[in-house]
Order: sequence, then C-alpha cells, then structure tokens
Amino acid sequence: MLDRTHRFRRAGATAAIAFAVVTLASCGDSTGPRNKQNALRPAGKYSRQILHLTEPFFWIAVIVGLGVIGGTFFVALRFREKPGEERAVKQVHGNTALEISWTVIPAVILAVMAVPTVATIFSLAKKPTGSNVVNVTVTARQWWWQFHYDDAGNGVETANELHIPVGAPISLTLQGPPACSPAPCYANGVIHSFWVPELNGKKDVVPGRKQFLKLEADKPGIYLGQCAEYCGLSHADMRLRVIAQSPADYQAWVQSQKAQKVSVAALEAGVNNPTYQCASCHSFKSDTAGAVAPNLTHLADRTAFAGDKYLLNYDNLWRWVYDAPSRKPMGKLVQHMPNFSQANMSPAEAQKIACFLLTNTATNPKPPSECAAK
Ligand code: CUA
Repeated sequence: MLDRTHRFRRAGATAAIAFAVVTLASCGDSTGPRNKQNALRPAGKYSRQILHLTEPFFWIAVIVGLGVIGGTFFVALRFREKPGEERAVKQVHGNTALEISWTVIPAVILAVMAVPTVATIFSLAKKPTGSNVVNVTVTARQWWWQFHYDDAGNGVETANELHIPVGAPISLTLQGPPACSPAPCYANGVIHSFWVPELNGKKDVVPGRKQFLKLEADKPGIYLGQCAEYCGLSHADMRLRVIAQSPADYQAWVQSQKAQKVSVAALEAGVNNPTYQCASCHSFKSDTAGAVAPNLTHLADRTAFAGDKYLLNYDNLWRWVYDAPSRKPMGKLVQHMPNFSQANMSPAEAQKIACFLLTNTATNPKPPSECAAK
C-alpha cells in the first residue's frame, strides 16, 4: 500500500500531465486564417443559427458538469474516513426526495433545451423562397462533387467549386448518381455527406433520395467543405470549395460559364484522341448534366480539381491526365480516370492535353508559360 505522500505525488503528476495535454491540444490553429473549416466561426445565417443554439447548451453542460464533479469531490472529501477513525458505515435504503429530484431536474433541463432545438431544426429545414434563391443540384460522386445550376437561364455545370452570390439563399438538392445500366456495373452509389462548416451543418447524401440543404454567405470569400461520411478510398480527397461573390460578380461568372467560346466539336476533337476518348466520360457542353466525370468546358476557370485535391496548374494537370490513379487512390470498383501511361500515352501527349484544357476552354484563358511553345 502506498503511503499518503506517495499517493499525493502520483495524483499531482497525473493532474500535471492532463493539464499539459489539454493546454497543448489548444495550441492548434483553431481560429487563424488557415483554418477554413470551422463551425465555431460561422460566415452565414444558417451556421450562425446552429452556433447560437450550441453556445448556451455548452454553458448549461459546463454548469451541470461542474455541479456533478464538484458534488462528487465534496462528498468524497467531506465523508472520508479521518486518520485514526474507525466507524461502521451507516446503511440506508433509498431516498425518495433525492431520487425524484435527480430525475425531474434533468428532465426539465432537457425539455427546456428541446424547445429551441426543435425550432432550429424546423427553421433550417424550411426551403427558402423569393426571387433571389439560387437552386443547385448537387450530385455526390466517388469522389467529387457535381454542381448543376437549375434555374432557368442559368444552365451551368461545374465540379467541386460552387459559386454563390452573397446574401442570397442557396437551395441545394443533394442526390446520389443515377443508377447505372446495364448491370453488372458499379453505380457509385454510396452515402456521402455534404458539409461546409462555415455555412451550415452537414447533410447526408443518400443514393435514391433527394435531400435538402441551404447555404448563405454574408461576405465574399472562399469557404472550404469536405465529404463528412466515409465513402471509400478517396473519402479524404472529396473536398469542395464554395466561392461567394458579390451579386454582380456572380452574375458575370454565370454569363462566363454559359458562354461556349470554342465549339463543342473543336473541344472534343482537341482531347478526343481515339485511344483516350476523353469525351466519352467528360462533357464539353457548358450545361450538360449527368456525365459520369466532371464537365471540362470551363475547367480553366477553376482553381482546383480532382475533388479539390490539387490546385489547378499545368504541372498538376498533365500528371493527372498521364496517370490519375497514382495521384489519388481510386481502387478497382469505381469508374474512374484510367492510367493513360499504361495506354501508351507519352508525357508530351499528356502535356498537350493539359495545355489544350488550360487554354482553349476557358472564357478568360491565361495560358501557362509552359504551354506557350506547345
Ligand atoms: Cu464522399 Cu466521403
């Protein structure tokens, strides 16, 4: 049996280690500008609604926690056996008043907390109305996000990057990919979860169902998101970015995306070497929905690609075209970009295709310097 001094020392050391762990854990950059996925720093009214619900509940939990822990310590110290004291433990059977109170008090607290919780759930589930609502269908794929702008006259299709106007409600219809046919085939139908922490809570995307989620951003900026439901090999690489713009900039962007500067035939011819057949999966029409791979019409206007894993630049893009599976885990079961290096594509050919995509399809192409000679 340890003596009293030993026990105090051991307790002191344990407390010091626990304190150090908690203190060091808080050294992470939780509020700095680099952390772009922070539900505690809302940037829109829906995420703010959630935080306003969370904050009072947190403090209620702190008060309850301190009461329970404090009560436990008080009883342990107050009624402990003193040195040299020998006493028989007093036997009791139940305490009706205590038992009723520790049942009723938590029940009342939970009932009170349920009121704003249910109100917030209903409020967030309400579809926005008004002439400024932007409707977007989001299709979760393995492993990228397809965004189709549904409103009449918009007819725009992008991948992994969702442009929105600030101050307007964005109504998202979340869905899985259409079931593929003929069987046997892999429908890519697994559950994902759409989450942009600064703009709203998360919502599962379930194959065969249509789910609703809304977003709204206060200020222009880039808000990063992430698939929040494990969905296979590249779950961690299934990211997205919401680019919030002033209404005027947003409208300009929509117009730029609708413009088809280069003819579809020319686009397809440029990348549709008979061996590689890019156009059998990728669409080059600005508004075409439903293709199995990202619409590449305005690829050059995006900032990132491959589920937002890589920044869009010459080097990243040609290496991706050359051998995508080595750049992002994709496995055998999912329909994905092949390893074209095994189909005898040369690095020079991959570079040529990358340059074509980066220069010919953009509305405002800024050709990379590497492409000048190609
Ligand atoms: Cu999609 Cu995880």
